[in-house]
Amino acid sequence: MSGIELAVIGGTGLYRLAALSDVQAAEGETPYGPPSGPVRIGRLAGRRVAFLARHGEGHSLPPHRVNYRANLWRLKELGVRRVLAVNTVGGITERYGPQVLGLPDQLIDYTHGRDASFWDGEGGEVLHVDFGDPYTPSLRAAVLAAAGRAGVAVVDGGCYGATQGPRLETRAEIARMRRDGCDLVGMTGMPEAGLARELGLDYACLAIVANWAAGCGDAGEITLEEVLANVEAASAGLPAVLEALLG
Ligand code: HPA
Repeated sequence: MSGIELAVIGGTGLYRLAALSDVQAAEGETPYGPPSGPVRIGRLAGRRVAFLARHGEGHSLPPHRVNYRANLWRLKELGVRRVLAVNTVGGITERYGPQVLGLPDQLIDYTHGRDASFWDGEGGEVLHVDFGDPYTPSLRAAVLAAAGRAGVAVVDGGCYGATQGPRLETRAEIARMRRDGCDLVGMTGMPEAGLARELGLDYACLAIVANWAAGCGDAGEITLEEVLANVEAASAGLPAVLEALLG
């Protein structure tokens, strides 16, 4: 299948794209195992758009169990060339309070033990992709411009720190991440972005701030209810951004 203009990978709280019409499910395995679920391909703003729920449609996969390689491989196999990853995150620095939408331009990877490359030595081939700018500048610029046209506020730039999870971070860990220069913290940003680069896919991250990270803002105990309520509120602008991006 080809002619897919954009794929959206949905994170916590985003398991469907209600704005998609004429949706068909593409099921399929990959050499890396099964993806998180079917890729749902439909129409949005007159274009073909694919959607994949990163954690599975019933949110059954924690961040460290997501088969990132299968997900990206499957999208590429279906003809996808541009991926907008939607990631639920905690906010560390002032600009990134709950319900903010952000478009980070840098990342730091604190994850471990995940299958982080398609080039893991089998067959003797080793590849070192350039990753200085982990998010594709042209796609970031297009999303920012679309958000502007749609009248949806998006914070431009910032550094996403990818943690292992599934537990949330300690205050000391977040304090260290702040010293490192992280503005946002999430559990799913890597290895996804690196794998997309290895496959030559354009990739940008639209981060939805669900809560203040530990020890930041007025953070108290972080609950799933708080996370989901803020994701729902902040996601309200997403269809308009996608329409503007595709239109
Ligand atoms: N930390 C890590 N991941 C997250 C958070 C957080 O505070 N909130 C939502 N995803």
